Amino acid sequence: MTHPIEHRGNELYIESISAAEIAKEFGTPTYVYSRALIEEAFNSYKNMLTSHRSLICYAVKANPNLAVLDILVQLGAGFDIVSEGELKRVLTAGGDPGKIVFSGVGKTPSEMNTALKSKIYCFNVESESELNTLNEVSKKMGEIAPISIRINPNVNPTTHPYIATGMRKNKFGVPKDEVIKLYEKASKLKNISVQGIDCHIGSQLVDINPLIESIQQLLEIVDELKRRGINLEHINLGGGLGITYRDEAPPSISDYIRSILSELGDNNLKLIVEPGRSIIGNAGILITEVQYLKTTSHRNFAIVDAAMNDMLRPALYDAWLEILPISKRHGIEHKTWDIVGPVCESGDFLGHQRNLAIKERDILAVLSAGAYGSSMSSNYNSRCRAAEVIVDSETIHLARKRESFNDLILGENLLAKTEKPRAK
Ligand code: LLP
Repeated sequence: MTHPIEHRGNELYIESISAAEIAKEFGTPTYVYSRALIEEAFNSYKNMLTSHRSLICYAVKANPNLAVLDILVQLGAGFDIVSEGELKRVLTAGGDPGKIVFSGVGKTPSEMNTALKSKIYCFNVESESELNTLNEVSKKMGEIAPISIRINPNVNPTTHPYIATGMRKNKFGVPKDEVIKLYEKASKLKNISVQGIDCHIGSQLVDINPLIESIQQLLEIVDELKRRGINLEHINLGGGLGITYRDEAPPSISDYIRSILSELGDNNLKLIVEPGRSIIGNAGILITEVQYLKTTSHRNFAIVDAAMNDMLRPALYDAWLEILPISKRHGIEHKTWDIVGPVCESGDFLGHQRNLAIKERDILAVLSAGAYGSSMSSNYNSRCRAAEVIVDSETIHLARKRESFNDLILGENLLAKTEKPRAK
């Protein structure tokens, strides 16, 4: 069987469309996603969970494009959100509010208000102060807020320190030894309804053992709460399953869920997971055109038209992403290139020391760029954000138009237009 993103002959294809055709029609840099791969990943979760009460909440932050959300809505997904913006995106895409969980350490009262009005499934509460605020907000609205409490299990997820979230030194969750007290308090608050327990220990996890250790801790807490008359409805294990960028060997989605289910045993808690990267990471690529080849006695630079503002992961985490020419060249010498963007920072690179046969105007594909690519992009250096397209078999869908100069300055004002003397 052919893979939806692969070279066929000399040309890179996304499903039935060549990357060259997309570059010609939409220009570069452009993010390209395969609908088939998004569906395949989501369905791997879904198929593993048919016999267990469950909710698969796609982590919107991985890629919040409306068309991506639309695909997932059609598959019956729930959503994990971290802001009012993400909530509104999900609702705009037709997502069911009854399948939304709201994560994050800093939900504002106004965000809580909007989420309560929308009747979301659950707030993942991360501190006593947040619990108090949520209770006050829901009291004012005459609502009852469904909550889970996020535990910080203090396990080491062995991932990049910036995306490890379940260690004592991280800002996330409530320490295990403080959580029973907080549940007892929550269960007495009039405008709070205790529903579940959750954790999210980190992202790009390759080893499942720290998660298993966390599940054991969570189940101990569930039992202790039961003894105290607090019965939970669900357990939410967050997201975090890693993908292969280079040679990492994370468990497959099915093995991952199988291990979780076996750890849960005959426990009838509803299982919630919040996968982001493992749904969309390998379903997307970023195509970019080589502008200049600059060879020096020290290094060879391929200067491309995508930069750290389009794809921040290499600059921020020193992440390694595969980079390949979309059309394989024959008869040109392979050389070692640093693939860099036009932004005025030495941290602006997509890859270092890559052995490639390329020439100017060639188009390169940065692979595994579907998650935390477009969603972390910015306008730094006043660069317009890239276009995004979704390939669905023989169809190309423009998921996001390339930004224009007018988009860049939207909401900005020249001084003269905003002169407003303060009244004394
Ligand atoms: N749930 C919560 C509460 C989260 O904080 C996250 C990700 C997820 C679910 C989804 O995790 P995933 O399945 O995608 O690993 N920008 C970084 C990743 C940051 C992840 C933040 N939280 C990167 O590019 O590697």
